[in-house]
Amino acid sequence: MSLGRFPATRLRRNRHDAFTRRLVAENKLSVDDLIWPIFFTEGSGMQTPVASMPGVDRVSLDRLEAHVEPAVRLGIPALALFPVTPKEARDAEGTEATNPDNLMCRAARLLKRAFPELGLIGDVALDPYTDHGHDGVLRNERIHNDDSVAVLVRQSLNQAEAGIDILAPSDMMDGRIGAIRAALDAQDRSDVRLMSYAAKYASAFYGPFRDALGSGALLRGDKKTYQMDPANSDEALREVELDLAEGADMVMVKPGMPYLDIIRRVRDRFAVPTFAYQVSGEYAMIMAAANNGWIDRDRAMLESLLAFKRAGCNGILTYFAVDAARTLHYA
Ligand code: PBG
Repeated sequence: MSLGRFPATRLRRNRHDAFTRRLVAENKLSVDDLIWPIFFTEGSGMQTPVASMPGVDRVSLDRLEAHVEPAVRLGIPALALFPVTPKEARDAEGTEATNPDNLMCRAARLLKRAFPELGLIGDVALDPYTDHGHDGVLRNERIHNDDSVAVLVRQSLNQAEAGIDILAPSDMMDGRIGAIRAALDAQDRSDVRLMSYAAKYASAFYGPFRDALGSGALLRGDKKTYQMDPANSDEALREVELDLAEGADMVMVKPGMPYLDIIRRVRDRFAVPTFAYQVSGEYAMIMAAANNGWIDRDRAMLESLLAFKRAGCNGILTYFAVDAARTLHYA
């Protein structure tokens, strides 16, 4: 036995067996980390699959409570709500966003009544309500920042009134967090939390979501004048810094898996509650490969979600939320 021929430090020792691996694990995924985005429609007795998101359905309002109940039972802390607004209710200014009886508000009231402890996150952006599919107000073929913010403020107050706990502006207009925070405070609604989509990129990975909402076919042009350029990372820090200064309580990076570097930078720099959205295209990729038998769905799902924790996330918006919670409970 000669010393020095072999390493004294052997990292494989801590991987020797399952109990040691459990003891040294640095991160852990739990049901507390999961936020479930859901799609719902008008009408009744309807549950229609989203073709590009196998396993994801749009449910009519009368089925919403039954649809959500398993998530509540599994202990998922919050849902992100996405209304599928009928074409007839869309216009150039997204007026329907400010209607107190729109689909979003009715869903929020219904869910608050049925599940008072369940957190409700409301997406603030005009794309479900505009006939051109953009997140803001279109003037002379341009998205007008300040006119958009004015509508987004009214949309926010409308959602807060209906029982939304956390407003999540996903529109990427400049100054909207400050404007929404000021309006909430003026209405004595300082309890309403703001989770800003602070670093949201103009991404190819939103395609299936736009199918689900029916805004994809309507979309004129692209969203590159307001969503971020995937080439940029320092700029994400400036976005986060501004949103925090304007009053955001939590920040989000979106999409998720291709942007883990952004999550890590945000977390290291600001040390604030940080979330990621594992978006529709990421879900679709995993499901497509799994349905072809090319990867193990459950393992890929859990590994991808754990990677968000390792990158520094407090939580993840994911279409896998219910399946992941089930897997975690029965592991
Ligand atoms: C719209 C919005 C989008 C998503 C969440 N809110 C799409 C977009 O910006 O075009 C995407 C979510 C997903 O792809 O799962 N404001």
